[in-house]
Amino acid sequence: MTPTSQLVDPSTSKLLDSSTSKLLDFSTSQLTADQLRDAYLKFFESKGHTIISGASLIPENDPTVLFTTAGMHPLVPYLLGEKHPAGSRLTDVQKCVRTGDIDAVGDSCHLTFFEMLGNWSLGDYFKKEAIEWSYEFLTRHLGFAPEQLSVTVFQGEGDIPRDDESAAIWKSLGIPEERIHALPKEDNWWGPAGTTGPCGPDTEMFIDTGKPACGAACRPGCRCGKHVEIWNDVFMQYNKTAEGAYEPLKQHNVDTGMGVERTICMMNGCPTVYETELFAPLMAKIRKLSTTRPADAETAVRAERIIADHMRTSVFILGDPKGGVKPGNIGANYVLRRLIRRSVRYAKMLGIPTGYTRALAEVVIEKYKGPYPELEANRDTVIRELGAEEERFEKTLNAGQREFDKVAAALTQHGPTTLSGRTAFKLYDTYGFPLEFTEELAAEQGLAVDRAGYEEAFKKHQEASKQGDATFKGGLADNTVVTTRLHTATHLLHKALQMVLGPHALQKGSNITPERLRFDFSHPDKMTREQIEQVEALVNEQIQRGLPITVETMAFEDAKGRGAIALFSAKYEEQVKVYTVGDFSMEVCGGPHAANTGELGGFKIQKEESSSAGVRRIKAVITNVA
Ligand code: ALA
Repeated sequence: MTPTSQLVDPSTSKLLDSSTSKLLDFSTSQLTADQLRDAYLKFFESKGHTIISGASLIPENDPTVLFTTAGMHPLVPYLLGEKHPAGSRLTDVQKCVRTGDIDAVGDSCHLTFFEMLGNWSLGDYFKKEAIEWSYEFLTRHLGFAPEQLSVTVFQGEGDIPRDDESAAIWKSLGIPEERIHALPKEDNWWGPAGTTGPCGPDTEMFIDTGKPACGAACRPGCRCGKHVEIWNDVFMQYNKTAEGAYEPLKQHNVDTGMGVERTICMMNGCPTVYETELFAPLMAKIRKLSTTRPADAETAVRAERIIADHMRTSVFILGDPKGGVKPGNIGANYVLRRLIRRSVRYAKMLGIPTGYTRALAEVVIEKYKGPYPELEANRDTVIRELGAEEERFEKTLNAGQREFDKVAAALTQHGPTTLSGRTAFKLYDTYGFPLEFTEELAAEQGLAVDRAGYEEAFKKHQEASKQGDATFKGGLADNTVVTTRLHTATHLLHKALQMVLGPHALQKGSNITPERLRFDFSHPDKMTREQIEQVEALVNEQIQRGLPITVETMAFEDAKGRGAIALFSAKYEEQVKVYTVGDFSMEVCGGPHAANTGELGGFKIQKEESSSAGVRRIKAVITNVA
């Protein structure tokens, strides 16, 4: 952004619109995000700050976070004492991605992507100036009434005292004591979670929405929605050491964060962030594309918001100038995949036609290309990657739809009108259908879904995966995404070995870690280079084909009768789970497995060696896993 010399009208001290040189008057018009960013940067420039550009969403040399989650991330070296070339007072707008609260998205204010306005003191000013300027900007420039404002300060813990200094500054500005709340560390401390680095107490500013209090204990920090946090001033004066101690930093820093979306929401009296000008065109497009509407209005609105939020975040990740994050199976790539797929599922719920990702990406790019020209520059990549992932997920969704149709047909024929919780859970677990999605499909067929049964199956599954439960005979104790996929790769390998070496090549042992699979099988000789290549090629071919993996429960005898691979040495229950990988393999197994072989990316044998007499051992990896 270009600094201007005339920032503030001398007679009123109000901000001037930098493009028109007119007074910004938010009382008569809606404040746009462009105006807010500009006003904020100009305000702090008038207080001696240098405007710097925000950093990439993909952190540089920082393995502790997958994405930039706050403005402080790119500035850590300077908070620790290194000299910043632009000086000791800085101000910026930082793109942030946080997915920790993904399940809360759909409410009035939680987002997975947001913009954070920040002002920084690197060993320069401290609490007094930071708080006074926050107050000045909020009340004199944005026009919030002082009565709407309440604040929180750190209540102290261990050797670190209560932040009476901040409380006194707020009081001196006219905030009465009853609107200054001292809260514990989980509310009023900012620092790198569980790791080392700069940290300190903070003071947070909340706007009262005017909604009734949820109870006598309702106060800022309560999640009921009465008080919305819009700004946080962090006083970074400690460094958390590897031993967990807090040592004073050699300089006192200020790190602040004001959320753009929430602030314009509150400024303009919007009921939720989705009514602000940042989201309005996206929400309108989603509604235009929708062809069905779930009967339950709350479900429908939540779906629209999730699609809007997840698509916006995905466009920013794919359009980031640093590039490199594509939908995939680990780390940041997996976060992106999850966002896109979750959006696709909800788009289905609203009957939004395939290919919608392009239409929505165009709306996001149009809205943001001014302040974020990288989105326009990377338009083709953004649209291509979104479309490709949408298509890949369609395949799994279709397999799940077939499974649903099969169950629904049987149910409607035989009388019961409720789909069991177990089936609903299987649709969730194996095909990625959220419960609400299954409920919609079921309602169309006049079927109800046993919600309580679903919750129960879900809980059982969670407990089982926590304990590495013995009921998953032959299955995986650890069912993280990575190990689950390696498990599926093991099935493909098992079948491929039998095809290349002969039916004697049966599993003797299997061990999976997040890094690799290890598979022991009966075979008298060392495998030749050619055999290894053939096995690899066969497995990769199945991955390329994007085969769905389905699971059925049946009597062990039936499973054998249908040709499923089973281990003679193992003891099976009477009823067993049988996993089928497309038309390629069928194996008795406890699971869990990937939903589609395409998720594996690629397969590579790293080692073939002897394990014991007549038993060979293969170590292999899937290429989408680092
Ligand atoms: N780093 C602080 C936050 O993200 C400002 O809330």
